[in-house]
Amino acid sequence: MVHDQSQVKRTGDLWFGLAASVTELDGMPKAKRVLFRRSPFLVSYWNDEELIFENYATGKGATAAPIATEVLNFFSGWLSAAALFRHLPQYSPSSLRAAIKQLLRYSLLQRSDRELLPLERAMPAWKDWNPAAGFLHFTGRDLPFEADLMRIGRYMEELTHEKAMPVPVKHYPRAAQTMLPPPREQGEFTRVLTSRRTWRRFAPGKIALADLATLLGLTWGVREWVAVPPLGTFAVKTSPSGGALHPIEAYLVARDVERIAPGIYHYDATRHRLELLRRGMTRDRMSDYVIGQRWFSEAAAFVFMTAVFTRTQWKYRYPRAYRVVLAEAGHLCQTFCLVATCLGLAPFCTMAMADSTIDRDLGIDGVTEGVLYVAGVGKRPEGVDWKTASLPIDPTGKKRRLRG
Ligand SMILES: Cc1cc2nc3c(=O)[nH]c(=O)nc-3n(C[C@H](O)[C@H](O)[C@H](O)COP(=O)(O)O)c2cc1C
Repeated sequence: MVHDQSQVKRTGDLWFGLAASVTELDGMPKAKRVLFRRSPFLVSYWNDEELIFENYATGKGATAAPIATEVLNFFSGWLSAAALFRHLPQYSPSSLRAAIKQLLRYSLLQRSDRELLPLERAMPAWKDWNPAAGFLHFTGRDLPFEADLMRIGRYMEELTHEKAMPVPVKHYPRAAQTMLPPPREQGEFTRVLTSRRTWRRFAPGKIALADLATLLGLTWGVREWVAVPPLGTFAVKTSPSGGALHPIEAYLVARDVERIAPGIYHYDATRHRLELLRRGMTRDRMSDYVIGQRWFSEAAAFVFMTAVFTRTQWKYRYPRAYRVVLAEAGHLCQTFCLVATCLGLAPFCTMAMADSTIDRDLGIDGVTEGVLYVAGVGKRPEGVDWKTASLPIDPTGKKRRLRG
């Protein structure tokens, strides 16, 4: 997100003081009649004293003086700069031109002689979810993440100096307490659940094709089709789905998988097949996908989970349904991690990813379908038992013995 803070200092001048120095719009020939319109994807709010405008479709934003609201409000439909001069005769045309130029720079205004960006073109698909869900989703794309472990460590330390880390559990000590019997912990299912961990080290070598097929099939494969006349046919998978609409698609990034050439594949959830989209894959590319998290790029394979938002948007025409899509990605990812654990593999998940790069490599527009989550899997390294890495203390203060 680009918040050009230099704008903060200049906003007062932006509208009144630059009159003498800025008289032309960049690259706009005088003779040509260019029209302007407010971008339909703007959100404005105050951050302390600063008034901020953001275009969540382009990811650009700037602070501005309140007069910007008047100008943006004026450009509700396609209108000329001259029309603005007539509307605000108290300001000099040159200062208003400068204002328009700034608003264009931060994509708060659109101009009639320029193509819209692909994200802006596709955005009408989100009309029922905007601005609330669109603002949340699109302003969170392509954020920089820190992948330097030393710096992450220092940052965490600073945080704990500032304020102690929150305890991840809650108690009601004054409430009546009912003792529960211990959870039944026998069986394979419990073993798998309790041994799932996030792996950041992998043994070299390929994972078996049968394991990969099991992972994809049990997590994303359609188990059954259920006919519900007159609506149509609903897919059933091992994870639940809001309205059984199943917005999440899976794309395999294969690097070290037996009998699968490195590349990017779409998983056909109905026919249990891989569809080759792009040949070749390097560790560097994998590292780029997860924003330089080298500990993950050594995995044998990634699975990009995208959301075909339009599936859920078809039924749920309100922004709250964005939560449904996120929850579904979580269900699927946990299933993936558990299946991988059951197979003796080393799974992980991350949301620190290069959204636009991934969308581009998948050939999707990022709006009607966009990446949401990255899971990955590799071979387990010998001699690493995650249980031994568990903390021997209960954060609520009680000492706890290590099991296993
Ligand atoms: C949504 C989500 C995003 C995560 N992103 C990252 C990440 O970017 N990098 C990373 O190393 N681990 C990431 N993790 C893994 C967590 O750090 C890990 O789950 C946590 O430390 C608890 O450890 P466990 O999974 O072994 O129980 C993520 C986990 C979740 C659920």
